[in-house]
Amino acid sequence: MTRQRLGVCYYPEHWPESRWREDAELMKEIGLSFVRIGEFAWSRLEPRDGDYRFEWLGRAIDALDRAGLKIVLGTPTATPPKWLFDKMPDMAALDADGRPRKFGSRRHYCFSHDGYAQECDRIVERLAQIFGAHPAIAAWQTDNEYGCHDTVLSYSQSALRAFRHWLKAKYRRIETLNEAWGNVFWSMDYRSFDEIELPNLTVTEANPSHLMDFQRFSSYQIVAFNRRQVEIIRRHAPGATIIHNFMGSFVDFDHYALSDDLDVAAWDSYPLGFLERSSYGDDFKLRYARVGDPDFQAFHHDLYRACGRGRWQVMEQQPGPVNWAPWNPAPAEGAVRLWTYEAFAAGAEAVSYFRWRQAPFAQEQMHEALLLPNGEPNEGFHVAARVSRELEMLDARVETCRAPVALLFDYESAWAWRIEPQGQNFAYFDLVLSIYRGLRRAGLSVDVVAPAPASVAERRLIVAPALFAPSEDFAQALAESGATILLGPRAGSKTADFQIPADLPPGVLRRLIDIRVRRVESLRPGASVKVAGDGAFLRWRELLLLGESVERELRSDDGETALARSGNVFYLSGWPDDDLLANVLRRVFDVARLSTLDLPEDIRIRDNGAMRYVFNYGSKPTDISALIGDEALLLGERILEPCGVAAFRRGDFRMATKA
Ligand code: GAL
Repeated sequence: MTRQRLGVCYYPEHWPESRWREDAELMKEIGLSFVRIGEFAWSRLEPRDGDYRFEWLGRAIDALDRAGLKIVLGTPTATPPKWLFDKMPDMAALDADGRPRKFGSRRHYCFSHDGYAQECDRIVERLAQIFGAHPAIAAWQTDNEYGCHDTVLSYSQSALRAFRHWLKAKYRRIETLNEAWGNVFWSMDYRSFDEIELPNLTVTEANPSHLMDFQRFSSYQIVAFNRRQVEIIRRHAPGATIIHNFMGSFVDFDHYALSDDLDVAAWDSYPLGFLERSSYGDDFKLRYARVGDPDFQAFHHDLYRACGRGRWQVMEQQPGPVNWAPWNPAPAEGAVRLWTYEAFAAGAEAVSYFRWRQAPFAQEQMHEALLLPNGEPNEGFHVAARVSRELEMLDARVETCRAPVALLFDYESAWAWRIEPQGQNFAYFDLVLSIYRGLRRAGLSVDVVAPAPASVAERRLIVAPALFAPSEDFAQALAESGATILLGPRAGSKTADFQIPADLPPGVLRRLIDIRVRRVESLRPGASVKVAGDGAFLRWRELLLLGESVERELRSDDGETALARSGNVFYLSGWPDDDLLANVLRRVFDVARLSTLDLPEDIRIRDNGAMRYVFNYGSKPTDISALIGDEALLLGERILEPCGVAAFRRGDFRMATKA
């Protein structure tokens, strides 16, 4: 079983070479095991076309190696240098208004530009040739945060050419495309693939099928871009571990598809920045301003574990205030440690802090690091040192096992409801996260999964909110899973072509529960539909026709079906508020025979195999004795302080997994 480790992100090119050794020794001294470097260094690796200066990087690697640290080497393709940009100015992505994105920050490239892709092949090949066999290089990171700063979609000429090509390969005949997109509507029929434009600058909204295919194409371009680097690295460094660092709350391309080419999926976790940027109200943001949303990080840990097929890590962990959110508070005392353990509790192989030393210059000068700009320790430094001592004491290892609960998360669904929200605040990500929160508040460890047959086998409960266009195969796998299933709202409501299914939603899911959705409505903020018993629908609700085998489990005050049930399959016909969600989940847990916990409001738990972690996201010390029973605590106290972490090994673990 893999030992859980700590690392840090480091930029040797920012500091005098005379300091590298001291930095490396300090890193080692506080128990860090690996260092990520190089991902933005192109202008120093190749200051002019073909003028390679890799020696300094070699010396930096050696300095870290000598201190006993391993290295994650980044490819520098997120930051093409000025000479390269000037050589091919049309490599810039164009925004939806057709304006090129300029040089002067990062990610100024279009994924469809072949000339740029070749330049990337060249620099990656050079790096892999020189460093591929270096014993200190434990892993490679491709590029950096694909899609960051809204860079997935590009409306360039290169993208247009590639899109037409992609459409031709997909549909073969233009008539097939016209049919699939419904182009008879508004006389949008095309006579050839060469007539198709990118879906920007249209008078009013573009056809949703056109938008969906453009989104699929754009996602495919990123997967292909990444694959080129992976293949080069694998050629020169066979057996190397290849990683990419994804983001939080980011759905612009299919992360499952890209991860198929990786060995480990990583993500960059900035709890306070993400909270400030989220759509939650001020009360929530104020309450968790210094500790972060208690469920947001955990959701991503579970998502990226699925992406990495069990192998994942945090590549960048917030260590102090950041610079990029609307407000950038300091973490509460203990919060950075709590975030670190939340990742290990979800089976992370590693957590790496961003960054080693605060840069006194450029865009991120206000972003804290483990060291102050003057090189002296800041708070994060002491946190890292403490956690590394504790990990040693715990002998912490990755101990993943299949969770009984699977929550579906699907990138196409995220695109679909962004293209056609139908109500301004129908945000797929928020819906899935709110359900995840409901599951976690019941003390359940959850696997977030892709809608693929293999991911729903051997589950007790499967939850599939707003699943855009499930395939026949997937619907069949659900039907045969034997699990309790909670569907809706909007599940199965379109075909893959972005049309309403012939016999109404939920389309292919009707084989699970014999209902049809006859009307949908969206609800503006402040509007709601009460549901008898407890809670209400907000944002969205549907009116159902029930087949004979279907019972009405919950009814709305206006006499419609709020929750339909057929055996162990449920369909929820709207966006639930917290009370309704809790009510629905209680019924579902009962049918699934899942034992749940009654957790105090800000307490969360997570199991990593036999190891159970308990976290306090609240502002008050909380007695967690009832959750621990007679077990001996390895970490923390029975009265768990704010930001406290407790951990113990469950004696009943084997029994619990067999049950
Ligand atoms: C990440 C990025 C880093 C750095 C960091 C600042 O999104 O990968 O390079 O910019 O944010 O928080």
